[in-house]
Parts: sequence; C-alpha cells; structure tokens
Amino acid sequence: MSMSLEGTVAIVTGAARGMGAEHVRGLVGAGAKVVAADVLDELGNALADELGPSVMYRHLDVTDPAGWETVVAQAEEAWGPVGVLVNNAGIVTFGSIEELSLQDWQRTLDVNLTGVFLGMHSVVRSMKMAGQGAIVNISSTAGLQGLANLGAYVASKWGVRGLTKTAALEFGPSNIRVNSIHPGPIRTAMIDGLPDNMAAAYPIPRVGEPSEVTAMLLFILRDATYTTGHEFVIDGGSVVGSRVGSPIE
Ligand SMILES: NC(=O)c1ccc[n+]([C@@H]2O[C@H](COP(=O)([O-])OP(=O)(O)OC[C@H]3O[C@@H](n4cnc5c(N)ncnc54)[C@H](O)[C@@H]3O)[C@@H](O)[C@H]2O)c1
Repeated sequence: MSMSLEGTVAIVTGAARGMGAEHVRGLVGAGAKVVAADVLDELGNALADELGPSVMYRHLDVTDPAGWETVVAQAEEAWGPVGVLVNNAGIVTFGSIEELSLQDWQRTLDVNLTGVFLGMHSVVRSMKMAGQGAIVNISSTAGLQGLANLGAYVASKWGVRGLTKTAALEFGPSNIRVNSIHPGPIRTAMIDGLPDNMAAAYPIPRVGEPSEVTAMLLFILRDATYTTGHEFVIDGGSVVGSRVGSPIE
C-alpha cells in the first residue's frame, strides 16, 4: 500500500536552500502543492519562481507562533487542509558547555526544538480536518549521540526525537503519522568549513547529498504507511561505529 502525494498540501520549513529546497523539489515532483517557508526571502522567492504555481514562498520564522497561524491559514485558503509538514528549519551553534552563552543556547533550542513544537501545534488541526496527515521532523545523528562542542545542537535534536515520539502517540488515532529523519553530514551550507575528510572513517566514506535525504523523506511520506514515531537514519553508517581504533585493523 502506498499513498499518493498528488494534490497533497505540504508545508516545508527552512525551504529556501539546502535540504529544505531539495525536499520542495521532490514534493512538487511527486504532485504536491508546497508552501516553502523560510526567513531567506530572496532565495525562497527564487525557488518558487523556478518551480511554478505548485509552490508558494512565505516568510516564516519558525519561532513565531502568529507567523505559523498565518502560513497555515494561507495554505488552507489557497489549496485546502494541510496533509504534510516537514519541520526542516534549523541552525547549528558551536561551543563547549563551559563556553556557550545562554543566548546561543536559547536561540538554538528556540529554532530547532520550539520551532518543531510550534509547527506541529499549528498544523495538527488542519490535518485532522483533512482526515489524515504525515509529519516528518528533521533531527540529526546529533539526536542519537553526544558530540563535543555541539551541546545546544545535540540537546535540540534529541528533543526533536523525543517530541516526535510523543506526537506519534497523540496524533496516531487521528490517522497522522509522525517520524524523524536523522541525517549525518550532508553537503549544504551548514557543513561549509568543516574538514573535507570528516567522513573518511565512515562505512560509506563520503558526505551525503540532499537528494538522498529527499528520497528517504518521500519513502516515509508515500510508503511507510504503518510506521510512526520512529527514527530514519541516513548517515553513511556513521553511528554504527568507526573503522579507526578497531582492535583488529
Ligand atoms: N547539513 C547537515 O550535515 C545536517 C545534518 C543533520 C541534520 N541537519 C538538519 O537538516 C536541516 C536542514 O539543514 P541544511 O543542512 O539544509 O542547512 P541550511 O543552513 O542550508 O538550511 C537551513 C534552512 O533553515 C532556515 N532557517 C534557519 N532559521 C530559521 C528560522 N528561525 N525560521 C525559518 N527558517 C529558518 C535557513 O534560512 C536555511 O534556509 C536542519 O534542521 C539541520 O539541523 C543538517
């Protein structure tokens, strides 16, 4: 059994560039109508121009509750109730627990975790109206392990993982599935400046491409119809272990 996305109304946050933009392309290719939301208006508008009338770009800071209400209302007015939500917007903040400022800690949690809460909080009524829905929250392999100097990011992504499971329990009886995707390093602006060889010791020794994450997203939305509350890891096997330091080289 698989679910068609033809005509489905989707909201993707952090959609102006990187993985979010690729998710918008994939969803449009699958027949969905997509509200692409971001704070980078120039890039977002360019994406909407590129993809045509199946995409509308809207300015949305995911930490803004009123902004969420507006975007959901505009989606409903244009196309009808929302069937898919991809909570993809995120920021990364580097710094040890000793050195990280409270402001950086709070901003990271606000965007990466509160933004996901607000997205689900604002969209679920619309999905209930539609009688079905699927939500995918973008966590990270940082939501599966600890990483030195990334405490705020790690805490936010573990939070997304836990909130996803709670949402799955609350929304399941309304025919709404909620899952999380956990990418390892993916070639976007977010990993610019990190060492080129960062993936050298992974089982698949390279960074991933946004299109590979989009393929997993579409699988979850279309085909994983009996799966909710779960983690979909796409990381070249990085959390499996490292070949470096094995007792038997
Ligand atoms: N690139 C990686 O290696 C990697 C790995 C694991 C998880 N992730 C996660 O994937 C998601 C997408 O990241 P990406 O790699 O495409 O990076 P990116 O920086 O290219 O994209 C993130 C997008 O989110 C938007 N954004 C930031 N703050 C926002 C806010 N307050 N409101 C609305 N939009 C906002 C940005 O403008 C940007 O367009 C993020 O949640 C990120 O944490 C990325």
